[in-house]
Amino acid sequence: MLKNRLALLAIVLWVVTIAVFAWFFVRGNTEAGTDGRNTVVLAASERNLILGEMRALLAASQQVVQGIQQGDMKRVAESARAVGMASAVDVNPALMAKLPVAFKSLGMSVHRDMDDLAQAADKGKSSAELLGMLSNTMSKCVGCHSGWQLKAVQ
Ligand code: HEC
Repeated sequence: MLKNRLALLAIVLWVVTIAVFAWFFVRGNTEAGTDGRNTVVLAASERNLILGEMRALLAASQQVVQGIQQGDMKRVAESARAVGMASAVDVNPALMAKLPVAFKSLGMSVHRDMDDLAQAADKGKSSAELLGMLSNTMSKCVGCHSGWQLKAVQ
């Protein structure tokens, strides 16, 4: 009887531990923001890293639009690929753990889209198709920015 109870207790504790880990994994290190958005709380260096990545995304988007306008598909492919999945692989695990799952998956899908865009440019897709792809991707930029902000604590 006592043995059964102990086993049950062990199982309950195990489930609770897993649930707590899962909760933090899904939620990341977040709190309510100052303007109705959610805030991801990071170290200053981590915030700088993400903002640097953001500026690279903006610069790449501008280059893609200009490349399309000039009919320079090589430039389109190179600019998009520069912010593709390869640019996201070396993010450190401590930072990844602080980012909520929804944030990470949206961010990764933007990098994947950029690789798809580069491939489409390589394959000689039309300007209209390429602009359509970029527009879809940029609606993800807009969506994420409307939901999240970053805060640095030291
Ligand atoms: C998964 C979420 C997410 C996605 C996707 C995303 N961003 Fe951001 N971005 C943020 C957050 C959060 C901030 C910080 C906003 C704040 O604190 O107010 C930010 C900030 C920025 C900044 C400001 C950088 C600085 O130095 O202050 C730029 C520029 C930017 N993003 C461009 C983009 C572009 C372009 C895309 C799409 C190609 C994009 N972002 C996609 C979350 C995202």
